[in-house]
Amino acid sequence: MKKHYGYIFVFVLMFAALTGMSVFGFSPDAQQAGNTAEPTGKDVLVVYFSATGTTKRVAEKIAEITDADLYEVLPSDDYSDEDLNWNDRNSRTTLEQNDRNARPEIGSDPVNLEGYSTIYIGYPIWWGEAPRIMDTFVESYDFEKITLIPFCTSSSSGIGRSGKILEENAESGKWLEGRRFGGNVSDDDLRSWIKSLQ
Ligand SMILES: Cc1cc2nc3c(=O)[nH]c(=O)nc-3n(C[C@H](O)[C@H](O)[C@H](O)COP(=O)(O)O)c2cc1C
Repeated sequence: MKKHYGYIFVFVLMFAALTGMSVFGFSPDAQQAGNTAEPTGKDVLVVYFSATGTTKRVAEKIAEITDADLYEVLPSDDYSDEDLNWNDRNSRTTLEQNDRNARPEIGSDPVNLEGYSTIYIGYPIWWGEAPRIMDTFVESYDFEKITLIPFCTSSSSGIGRSGKILEENAESGKWLEGRRFGGNVSDDDLRSWIKSLQ
């Protein structure tokens, strides 16, 4: 009988490991998946927020090309499809973007910026600007001695003043001109943009 308990225990552990379930106080935090918890010795970091995955793909490509760490800005409160409905004048995103002082809370653990000299900072364009959660992000850190390079994805709008507004709210760091990309930007285009920055 004891042997059976052993099998059951092993089975439960395997199930938990496979499903990411929380058992016996072991609680893998899905929100942190993929984020660099501590500095790795790399000097480039790619920070991004992405509601539907487009900016995330571009951010991952930039990180691969520049051999950078990645940090995803995750909202405490996820954006639902209704929240993202730009046709609704009362949707969460419409209300937030209409309010320059809106600062949605970040749910991912803070990132330690020690050792990074360059940060690519990416986001989707919402109503011509960066989502307000990016203001929450830039106002939470001191970017002294760090070069920041904004990038965004959008359906068609350019990056506009979105990078400048983040720079104004950050009040620190050396900010370069940002760049807008379509979701299907090629690795070659990203490479030549990155090269042009040096
Ligand atoms: C609330 C909201 C507002 C948007 N506003 C614009 C806009 O002003 N101009 C534009 O070209 N695209 C706009 N878009 C489209 C997104 O910028 C585009 O789909 C982006 O690539 C999504 O990135 P993500 O998948 O990383 O969230 C908007 C999307 C949402 C959800």
